Amino acid sequence: MINSLDFVKVTESAAIAASRWMGRGERNIADGAAVEEMRERLNGMSIAGRVVIGEGERDEAPMLYIGERLGRGGYEVDIAVDPIEGTNLVANGLPNSIAVLAVADRGALLHAPDSYMTKLAVGPKAAPFVDLDAPVAENLQAVSRALDKPIGEICVVILDRPRHQDLIFEVRAAGARIRLISDGDVDACIATALPSTGIHVAMGVGGAPEGVLAAVAIKCLGGNFLARLQPRNPQEAERAKAMGFGDLSRLLTLDDLVKGDALFCATGITDGDLVHGVRFFEGHVQTHSILVQSGGIVRFIESTHLLSER
Ligand code: FBP
Repeated sequence: MINSLDFVKVTESAAIAASRWMGRGERNIADGAAVEEMRERLNGMSIAGRVVIGEGERDEAPMLYIGERLGRGGYEVDIAVDPIEGTNLVANGLPNSIAVLAVADRGALLHAPDSYMTKLAVGPKAAPFVDLDAPVAENLQAVSRALDKPIGEICVVILDRPRHQDLIFEVRAAGARIRLISDGDVDACIATALPSTGIHVAMGVGGAPEGVLAAVAIKCLGGNFLARLQPRNPQEAERAKAMGFGDLSRLLTLDDLVKGDALFCATGITDGDLVHGVRFFEGHVQTHSILVQSGGIVRFIESTHLLSER
């Protein structure tokens, strides 16, 4: 029997390790520290884990590479990790960076290639009414009706990238508000499924592995996440095909991305919409995490760790 809190301890440790590099302009060192911590903790667990979304292929990532086996043996699980979601956010001391982990039964998570994905995320009330292929204005009107809010009160999160110029124009033309973010669309997509965040929709093109991670949490929370692979070049398209994607233009629903029961947890590195960042005090350090499991249970966990133990 796996205790889900043990997975939270993994993201807590990674977040603490990463936070020591917060604001120091060293994204790779911060990432390396979080990766090492996450790997060590997962290896200490009684699981037979297999990384399906990680830091890359074996030859480009020394640790937490796709296919890496983790744990001391036991229950067979697939693991998706993003030791730092928002490496630039950590390096620049900006909000919304998190250490992220998702766990599911063997074979339950889509093996997303390291490519892009077009994404549309909404919370439970709007879940049945959105369509990735519908015009932007139609989707926003559907969300506005589902939430019983004027469209001018609908907040859409979009990554601030030149590729989103048209999307930004269309969202503004429809009358909704936009929060542009510099990085971190996992946090933004999940925020749509938690009413307290004031974020109603996340749209645009972002990382495909990040899409699978967000989908795990959104599925557990009863929201909706629709996606389509968006390779940046022919090499990425070939890679996706080699990984088993037949039709790259296929619509990916939540059930394509996550099959069956799963667990998602994330710990804040810097303060964000979902969770607070790591806070150091004399003698101890505080972490704030979110744990979401199938069945719709959401737990926010504040932990105090003695610095002498770290
Ligand atoms: P990293 O933490 O790997 O830097 O990813 C951050 C991120 O902003 C993701 O949240 C997002 O999906 C992706 O990068 C977008 O990619 P790009 O920066 O190439 O537009």
